Amino acid sequence: MMRPYRSVLYIPGSKERALEKARELPVDAIIFDLEDAVAPEEKVAARETLARFLAEVDYAPRARILRINGFDTDWGRADAAAFAGHPGVEAILVPKVNGPADLDAVAAVAGDKPLWAMMETAAGMLNAAAIAAHPRLQGMVMGTNDLAKELGSRFRADRAPLMAGLGLCLLAAKAFGRVIVDGVYNAFRDEAGLRAEAEQGRDMGFDGKTLIHPAQVEIANAAFAPSSEEIDLAERQIAAFNAAQAQGQGVAVLDGRIVENLHVASAQAVLAKARAIAMLAD
Ligand code: COA
Ligand code: MG
Repeated sequence: MMRPYRSVLYIPGSKERALEKARELPVDAIIFDLEDAVAPEEKVAARETLARFLAEVDYAPRARILRINGFDTDWGRADAAAFAGHPGVEAILVPKVNGPADLDAVAAVAGDKPLWAMMETAAGMLNAAAIAAHPRLQGMVMGTNDLAKELGSRFRADRAPLMAGLGLCLLAAKAFGRVIVDGVYNAFRDEAGLRAEAEQGRDMGFDGKTLIHPAQVEIANAAFAPSSEEIDLAERQIAAFNAAQAQGQGVAVLDGRIVENLHVASAQAVLAKARAIAMLAD
């Protein structure tokens, strides 16, 4: 069963109000954060707060991902060890992954949890394929703020400075069948800007977008869900192809465009995604 990742909300592990709030938010996934959203003096308390919330609150059916601190800090190993067997956490997200060795190190202490990789360093971009190929890897998360910082690139609405990195990670994720979600949009009150960036990521092939504020959830959910027009087209493509096949043809024509096997596969993926989203809403 495919799982949607349209909206992936960061929640600082130190913020009880936000952890409370998340119970009612229609997000597909949550990243419970111990890394950059938590100040150094709060790190240890946040680990305990999070362990308690995740034991008491059932955030399912949302995907529950824990972002640990890096293993080059005082907290990373203890974060991974504390949640390796915690039933409230489904996967561990590793920050600033530069190469597969960073995943090996976490895999050794993360029990049998699948791993996710923050893709946010120049080295990570260049090693994206080797990272995506890691047998424990389930998904990738673009860390566009850290990437822009390292590159020295400026914010542009069209994200031209980040395109090479976004493209490399997308290629790597798709080559190995991993989930990949886009970076955050910092101006969380700017709805038009978020919508444009979410649609850009969707058009590129990302599964969804990471978010920092509840006001962003609906826009991401809408952008990454198949529209009713897309669902209708998918159904008609499948019907047209089946009719053509019944006539002994390998190719159908619909609305002046050819429909081949590969289009039918895409149409089926659209319908499967729509079904998965509908199941979440029930
Ligand atoms: N997840 C869940 N709930 C959140 C939230 C989040 N990321 N961000 C805010 N909320 C909640 C607030 O707790 C508040 O709930 P309440 O009405 O029950 O008090 C409500 O949404 C409205 O919040 P608002 O007052 O508009 O925002 P804020 O000033 O409290 O917080 C930020 C603004 C940006 C500091 C906050 O959204 C945040 O910390 N985001 C996450 C940042 C992060 O994780 N960064 C690391 C990855 S880039
Ligand atoms: Mg980062």
